[in-house]
Amino acid sequence: FLSIQATAQRKEANLSEANVPAYTLPDPLRTKDGKVITTAQQWTQIQRPYIYHLFEEHVYGRFPRKALSMTYKVNRVDPYALDSTATCKQITLYFTKSDTLAQLHLLLYLPNKPKRRVPVFLGMNFYGNQSVINDPSIPITTGYTVKGPGIVDNRATEASRGAQASQWPIKDIISRGYGLATFFYGDVEADKPDGWQTGFRTRLQELLDIRPEEWSAMGVWAWALCRALDYLEMDKRVDPDQVLVMGHSRLGKAALWAGASDPRFAMVISNESGEGGAALSRRDYGENIELITRSFPHWFVADYKNYGSNPAALPVDQHMLLALIAPRPLYVASAEGDQWSDPKGEFLSARYAEPVYLLFGKRGLGTDTFPRPQQPTGEFIRYHIRTGKHDVTAYDWEQYLQFAGKHCDSRP
Ligand code: GCU
Repeated sequence: FLSIQATAQRKEANLSEANVPAYTLPDPLRTKDGKVITTAQQWTQIQRPYIYHLFEEHVYGRFPRKALSMTYKVNRVDPYALDSTATCKQITLYFTKSDTLAQLHLLLYLPNKPKRRVPVFLGMNFYGNQSVINDPSIPITTGYTVKGPGIVDNRATEASRGAQASQWPIKDIISRGYGLATFFYGDVEADKPDGWQTGFRTRLQELLDIRPEEWSAMGVWAWALCRALDYLEMDKRVDPDQVLVMGHSRLGKAALWAGASDPRFAMVISNESGEGGAALSRRDYGENIELITRSFPHWFVADYKNYGSNPAALPVDQHMLLALIAPRPLYVASAEGDQWSDPKGEFLSARYAEPVYLLFGKRGLGTDTFPRPQQPTGEFIRYHIRTGKHDVTAYDWEQYLQFAGKHCDSRP
């Protein structure tokens, strides 16, 4: 009877700053035996693996480390894409000979100039590769898609072609000397509670030696980003040391987990990733653990929902996820019109990751003051909030391109 009552009393989102209760964050530099980490070496050898493992156990599930023999097929190369400024490649990645249905369709744009290897932004898309640019040569995904423009009964239609183009300013990215790689997250797992049944978590479970419930949709999406990186490392035109992982919203959560899980990602960009992404869970504002695990139980390992009524019992908070990315450059972005993602909670999370960056001699945000809109701040951890709604805009990309320009060794 008691537990039924508890269920009935579940909280809705708090959207009033005045009603945010006090909270105490775990200190990323305090070890489980109460010692304080003071050097980058101690962080890398002792604390980082410990914290990473806590995220595996309580939030995203185990990250499979078993190597696969991935194969790929380049289906189409168009050297005259975007008015001959870019080469567009459509590539299929296969993970097992026995189940060719476990495949990823990678869409890759590389600038024709400069001729040398270039840094590449990698990010998953929400509605299929056909949605990022209107190009009839890109097949429309046949997978399950969530609601959106050009999506009818969870299937993409012709009307979805280029419907997300404003979130993917490919021409600008190319003209600045960067490449862009993207794939549809639904190739990996349909974004619904039973999506795992037909997705990679089921298809690859034997090969990866992991049961579907040992990880999560977020886990397998992040894992797929790492496999796309495996391909990019083999592409002669890509600078393998400059693959920058980027994601918006739920895909921003996955980008952060990919960046934390795989040190090969040279930079991580979280665009309005919110709860379970960059935003602090203990700060009760906007979406919370209770709500996210109720709507999207498949995104996380089952244990995560146990903290819905008591986030303070969780041994981690999201500033520790951001800290796992240290010392690599990290960009966290919010939007004023997206209070659900808790912009201030994203800012504070970035702020409290800074002590770990400082161990490496890298400055983070360098301020405690929540910035005004369109006033990016920070060095190795950078943050902005912009006016406008939950989205990826030209303004956001301009900041990411500038940030990349500052930190990529082989910048154009
Ligand atoms: C929902 C969800 C968020 C998520 C967002 C998105 O709003 O509650 O956690 O980030 O969808 O992916 O757009």
